[in-house]
Amino acid sequence: MRTNSPLFNPHGDRDWQARRIIGGNSTRLIELNNVKYPWAVDLYRNMMQNFWIPEEVPLARDRKDYLRLPESHRQSVNLTLSFLIFLDSLQTVNLPNLAEYITAPEISLCLTVQAFQEAVHSQSYAYLLDSIADTLLRDMVYNYWRQDAQLMQRNRLITELYQQFLDHPGPENLLRAVIANCALEGIYFFSGFAVFYALARSDRMMGTASIIRYIQRDELTHLVLFQHLYLGIVAENPGLVTQSLKAELQSLLLEAAQQEIAWGTRISAGIVTGITDTSVRDFIRFLTNQRATALGWTPLFPEHIDSPYPWFDAFSHFNQQKTDFFEQRVLNYAKSSSLDWDSIS
Ligand SMILES: [Fe+2]
Ligand SMILES: [Fe+2]
Repeated sequence: MRTNSPLFNPHGDRDWQARRIIGGNSTRLIELNNVKYPWAVDLYRNMMQNFWIPEEVPLARDRKDYLRLPESHRQSVNLTLSFLIFLDSLQTVNLPNLAEYITAPEISLCLTVQAFQEAVHSQSYAYLLDSIADTLLRDMVYNYWRQDAQLMQRNRLITELYQQFLDHPGPENLLRAVIANCALEGIYFFSGFAVFYALARSDRMMGTASIIRYIQRDELTHLVLFQHLYLGIVAENPGLVTQSLKAELQSLLLEAAQQEIAWGTRISAGIVTGITDTSVRDFIRFLTNQRATALGWTPLFPEHIDSPYPWFDAFSHFNQQKTDFFEQRVLNYAKSSSLDWDSIS
């Protein structure tokens, strides 16, 4: 049994104010007119307005750019893609398991849209690989994790936390999975995006950078969703997060950060212009502190750290939607899915 509410539950609460994020007595009726968590409806509408189609981004020039890159750069692109591809696949598959456990239908709805968006991200990687790589290379990118011990270890960290929840669903394991999501959505992805933005700053693989910007716009809403989930579950369940569970969750995020630093310094530092050992380390530490603070924690890296990539924020801006990367929140909602490149320098 993964949830306290059966699929059809005539005895579920009619009063929407009685809803709870977990452990509620839900009828599973989706009533968007009556919601206890208005942030979830705002987020749902925002996510829906972000709809985009990968194939509408032209990539003809990207293949030429990719082939002109030095071999070390191409390898950096391949490995970055390989990790992102695995993570997006994992999200599409696993998010329904989390949604099923949630007893506030308006929040489950957001997780459903998120799973759909992760599928679009997988579609975009397939399109990207079709555009820049031959069959042999495509197969290598999809399967690097089988032969690369570090990549295997990285994929394992996240999947084991998800599997733990699947095998033993409960509030504590859900929170472990929520923190794994924060690491994945808010540290791993953003660190990977920096590689493509660094290339775009020297006018290389601009179409790919456009696709990454669309993906980033989605990932930001996913991050906000999981931050709300964590804070909401903690607020509704006093005593759930004991000192020892909190320390464990913090060390999980820290372990994820350290793995990302080791990975980034191996695959892109000193290879892609503008990315160095120091900038990788500082960017991950900066991201991790932001994620920790958003969860109500003190920064995990106590020293004050600024982003070494001030240009990263510019890639988060869209024509009619601003997503303030540094504030980790959506500033206004999209009317158009078109990208604005004017503010990028
Ligand atoms: Fe994604
Ligand atoms: Fe995501």
